[in-house]
Amino acid sequence: MSDKRSVRDVDVRGQTVLVRVDFNVPFKPGTSEISDDGRIRASLPTLRYLLEQNCALIVCSHLGRPKGRIDESVRMAPVSQRLAELLGLRVLQCNETIGRDVSALAGCLMGGDVMMLENTRFQPGEEANDAEFSRELASLATFYINDAFGAAHRAHASTEGVAHWLPSAAGLLLERELRFLGDALEDPHKPFASILGGAKVSDKIGVLDNLADKADLLLIGGGMAATFIKALGFNVGESPVEDDRIAFAKSLIYRSESGEVRLLLPDDVVVADRFNADADSRTVPVGSIPGGFRIMDIGPNTERQYCEAIKACKTVMWNGPMGVFEWEAFSHGTQVIAETLASLDDATTVLGGGSTAEAVAVLGLTDKMTHVSSGGGASLEFLEGRGLPGVEALPNR
Ligand code: 3PG
Repeated sequence: MSDKRSVRDVDVRGQTVLVRVDFNVPFKPGTSEISDDGRIRASLPTLRYLLEQNCALIVCSHLGRPKGRIDESVRMAPVSQRLAELLGLRVLQCNETIGRDVSALAGCLMGGDVMMLENTRFQPGEEANDAEFSRELASLATFYINDAFGAAHRAHASTEGVAHWLPSAAGLLLERELRFLGDALEDPHKPFASILGGAKVSDKIGVLDNLADKADLLLIGGGMAATFIKALGFNVGESPVEDDRIAFAKSLIYRSESGEVRLLLPDDVVVADRFNADADSRTVPVGSIPGGFRIMDIGPNTERQYCEAIKACKTVMWNGPMGVFEWEAFSHGTQVIAETLASLDDATTVLGGGSTAEAVAVLGLTDKMTHVSSGGGASLEFLEGRGLPGVEALPNR
């Protein structure tokens, strides 16, 4: 349980509240149509709670990476339109993030009104965490709520700086993220398994390092398994390998051989002759990967072993798909792991954001998990055991 002050710990009735959310949502390519509104939906409990407290809301977020300049393709208008639909309320969209007009509009807001600022990253002061920009943002409101877990690893003006200028607290989403990810790390029901996949070992080294001491069991899949399989001395064909991470993989294998951690690596894999949805594919033991082929998924024996191990656990933390799940021929490993997690009645299942969340959403299993994080990079940094600036800036209870 986090010791950060939550919106429920404070009296915000009638306040004008600056709410930092992470509405960095994806769009259908070349359109202003939002392809996944999950992050907007995830903020609704906090926004509704504040509206029930008769607050006036000034909502702000970044969108994309416009690098301190106005970029017409990442204006907030389509996002505030979707927010209005979901809230069933009018949302006033500002054309600017700060300035005289924005201040004048903010000054006219009444309890129950919702206004959205323009993309915070149109301002150079945002990523620079400029004190003047933070102060101007703060001057619009009387209270600050940070509900942007997905951006909490950024020490930016609207995620970190502004908390120093206003009374502040965590929103309900941020509170929930800290509770589930924090409990998985600090106080998991045992046995605790961590499944790690995705393309690169280097993306997950910090998490592996941190979890090796905490988890009873580490299961490895995805493209990153190739580096471990090569570290075991096997040929991995055309699979991309991070040669500079072989030593790390060997050290983890050594720790598992000496009984320090329990590490499960694939026993068989699905390989393909090209990185293509229609590539020629076959299932082989890890010791027999043919030259010219590359690893695309875990194999059926591995699926069986992994699922059996998972079923015995009381807490399972999953970050990173088991294969190239976007292509049907290589989606089976990820699907089976997701279905197994979904079938566990008596375990806490916590999923990192990004592609793991996407895979589970495609399978329609999101609601079957205890918690699916809204953060990609933020959840990784949290699981590495690093402090998140956006969280650290908030006061304790
Ligand atoms: C995310 O999508 O992970 C967050 O919104 C952070 O975005 P950023 O990586 O552009 O800071």
